[in-house]
Amino acid sequence: MNPLNASADIITHIKEHRSVREYEKREISEKDLTKILESGIRASSSGNMQAYSIIVTKDINIRKELYPHHFNQEMVMDAPVLLTFCADFNRMRKWLDISNAPENFDNFMSFMIGSIDATLASQNCALAAESLGLGVCYMGTTLANAHKIGEVLNLPKNVVPIVGFSLGYPKGVTNKKDRLPLSSIVHEEKYQDYTTSEIQEIYREREQSGMKRYKDVRELNEKIEAGHIENLAQVYTKIKYTKESHELYSRNLFEYLKEQNFFN
Ligand SMILES: Cc1cc2nc3c(=O)[nH]c(=O)nc-3n(C[C@H](O)[C@H](O)[C@H](O)COP(=O)(O)O)c2cc1C
Repeated sequence: MNPLNASADIITHIKEHRSVREYEKREISEKDLTKILESGIRASSSGNMQAYSIIVTKDINIRKELYPHHFNQEMVMDAPVLLTFCADFNRMRKWLDISNAPENFDNFMSFMIGSIDATLASQNCALAAESLGLGVCYMGTTLANAHKIGEVLNLPKNVVPIVGFSLGYPKGVTNKKDRLPLSSIVHEEKYQDYTTSEIQEIYREREQSGMKRYKDVRELNEKIEAGHIENLAQVYTKIKYTKESHELYSRNLFEYLKEQNFFN
């Protein structure tokens, strides 16, 4: 992926980011892994409660169990390490319990706090890893199948997986993906809503490059043709993120949050 050397400054590293889905068969040293995790826990967290846990999975048998729940994404088996970042109020609530303090944090607000803490820690780990020449690829399946992944990882109540990524040495160089123009994302002082022509302009380049990228993948192109998909916007909501799938994931997540004690 990223052809940078380890001494490049942090902004250069950030700007060279690209997701890595193919990995060399090469272990990560304990020293580097510790550096990455130590960088993760330096992230800001709400009230410095650090309402998250990081699960480091290397064992091939556990990765085999996770594989179908990550929808058979090859990186689960090919990368030497998977990191799963969980919203976690189990540890904190146990401490409250033995300290004769009211055991709060069994509500949706606490879930959001833990999720934000976990995500900030994850991105710190990702950047630290990239600065060491490693690559990552987040997996949205961590949240979509949180209940199944939680079961494999033995998560107790008050703990929910939020984000996860594969981690390892990149095989080859991956192209950098486009971003929407900065001016379309940043609003000066207050939100300025978009006109139709601004929306067309913002997505103009992506519509071409994105559609080309999907058409270059054989199975996706077959789906595009079979579904008479006319443009990139339709790829997003008729193929990749359908109403049915997102409503199903939402229902599963609500149920799991109730089970995990985050819905009072
Ligand atoms: C929360 C989250 C979930 C993601 N899930 C997946 C995934 O399941 N599989 C995958 O190949 N990439 C996944 N990605 C990677 C995105 O596709 C990628 O970040 C995006 O296309 C931009 O590409 P880049 O990271 O190479 O710049 C995910 C990224 C995020 C932040």
